[in-house]
Amino acid sequence: MLLRTLRTGRRGRTASQRTRVLSLCFLLTASGIACSQPTPEEQVAQGHTLYDAFCASCHEIERGIGPKLTPEVLATRVSAGALFRYTRMNMPYEAGNTLTEAEYWAITAYLLNRHGLMDADIVLNPESAEGLLLGK
Ligand code: HEC
Repeated sequence: MLLRTLRTGRRGRTASQRTRVLSLCFLLTASGIACSQPTPEEQVAQGHTLYDAFCASCHEIERGIGPKLTPEVLATRVSAGALFRYTRMNMPYEAGNTLTEAEYWAITAYLLNRHGLMDADIVLNPESAEGLLLGK
């Protein structure tokens, strides 16, 4: 029974193997262990998951204690690098620096991507964030 399940279609098996590799990479990164550089899609997906877990409780609910992170609010941080640094130092509120650097990059990439403030085919890191300005 189990064997038969394992032997089912080649495409299904490939997809599930890929999912396993992805989630292993996610777990390693979440534990602060360096993982190979994510693709842009993986970075944004990871950022989305982390944002929902660590940020949304204040920033996404009606009358949450954090301001709505609109494009205009994000732009007050001027550049992707400055937004990353502010977030890492200060967020989650009164618990800055509690996530890994890779996680803060992923959350920053998610915030910028969801408002179209950066190209979707870029992985956000110290080099690519350099000179990525958020103003219009
Ligand atoms: C416990 C509530 C809380 C959580 C959780 C939280 N924030 Fe905040 N956030 C705030 C508050 C309050 C402010 C306003 C701080 C200030 O003005 O000094 C803020 C401000 C910000 C700002 C600056 C907004 C501006 O006006 O320039 C950003 C960006 C931000 N948060 C991102 C995040 C991210 C990303 C996370 C998750 C890693 C997060 N926050 C988690 C409460 C929270």
